[in-house]
Amino acid sequence: MRLENSPALLSKGYAWLPDLRRARGLHAVGTRLGGLPAVGIQGTEAARFLYDEDHVHRSHAIPEPVQGTLFGKGAVHTLDGEAHRVRKAMFVALLMDGAGIDALVERTTAVWDAAAAEWATRPQVVLFDASAEVIAGSVTRWAGVPLTDGEVPALTRDLLAMVDGFATGGPRHWRARRARGRREDWLGGIVEQVRSGRAGAAPGSVLAVVAAHRDADGGLLDPRVAAVEVLNVIRPTTAVAWFMAFSGHALARWPQYRERLAGADPAFAEAWAHEVRRFYPFAPFIGGRAPQRLEFGGQTIPRNAMVLLDLYGQNHDPQLWEDPYAFRPERFLGREIGAFDLVPQGGGDPRTNHRCPGEQITVALLAALAPRLARLPFDVPADQDLTISLRRIPARPASGVVLRPAAAAA
Ligand code: HEM
Repeated sequence: MRLENSPALLSKGYAWLPDLRRARGLHAVGTRLGGLPAVGIQGTEAARFLYDEDHVHRSHAIPEPVQGTLFGKGAVHTLDGEAHRVRKAMFVALLMDGAGIDALVERTTAVWDAAAAEWATRPQVVLFDASAEVIAGSVTRWAGVPLTDGEVPALTRDLLAMVDGFATGGPRHWRARRARGRREDWLGGIVEQVRSGRAGAAPGSVLAVVAAHRDADGGLLDPRVAAVEVLNVIRPTTAVAWFMAFSGHALARWPQYRERLAGADPAFAEAWAHEVRRFYPFAPFIGGRAPQRLEFGGQTIPRNAMVLLDLYGQNHDPQLWEDPYAFRPERFLGREIGAFDLVPQGGGDPRTNHRCPGEQITVALLAALAPRLARLPFDVPADQDLTISLRRIPARPASGVVLRPAAAAA
């Protein structure tokens, strides 16, 4: 019998699937989630299994509360087959190919450098919030969306809220829904203006491309869905602030890395980005529906059951990562990363399956910003709560990582 596990997920958070597997000593465990049978799987073979399109479908798989906050309704995440391929090609062209990544990094580092000079005049800054503002303003303008300086703080709060509230039923969740509604209205209106010629959009920008995109059926996107997809660029990019807060946490816990990270070695900065993404909890798992009865790891997966790939568990699997609970960026120096081993943003081939198309952007931003963070003349004062609860999805250092100019902290 499979017991309903939604309450266990809510109370255990990231530890839910790893605990289930440990308790039963299996690589695949049957359970129930949201009233549906579910099977939790983990490991490179499991990732390969999940990314086989015949094994898992995404339509009708993502719960409404997650669509209503995190992804948006009609998003690329929820498509299968040809519909997915055509929509995904748009993201790949915008986010993975061409000069876009360098331009985004250049813009963001310039804004960071200017902001850092201003932070030095304040008694303290909260790294999570401050880096989110830098990134949100930069990526939104890079995407071609007009934005005044005065609009940046409220937009940042809304983008963070959409991520922060997807896995909870409380006030955080309702804040996320309101934020999404507000921003879909705003961006949907801009898309309509661009289409009617009442507003311009830089050629090749995210806004211009999404506004003109035609889906597999040959039609333009509904303005609301276009807004969802513009948000699916600026929202997760702003979420790199979580990894910046984790970088601040790691520098406070393991200060021996500060000098090395501050140095100009791009290989170490990239290794840092990978280790932060591997070590710290962010996306807990991904999943979809089995379109037919399947078998994996000795478990029967009934037709229509949810198949869940435990991302957090896999990133801490001792068979894949030596001493997985040690934070050790060097492990990525000279290591070839397999398509199905490091999975903080999914696995396989992002050009054809659902793997995150923003991984290069995430790594590039982190590899550019984390060394800047390490070079800031700031301390992480002891009188703050840096704990990261694994029961809270998404996790984050409780204080957001407070930084004080070095002289003031003495
Ligand atoms: C998909 C994580 C950054 C855009 C995903 C998935 C995960 C993920 C777990 C689902 C993979 C799957 O279902 O197989 C993250 C994390 C990020 C991040 C932890 C760090 C902040 C980004 C960025 C962008 C982006 C920077 C865009 C610039 C997307 C899109 C999808 C996606 C559009 C849907 C892809 C599809 O369904 O085909 N991401 N992501 N993400 N991500 Fe990211």
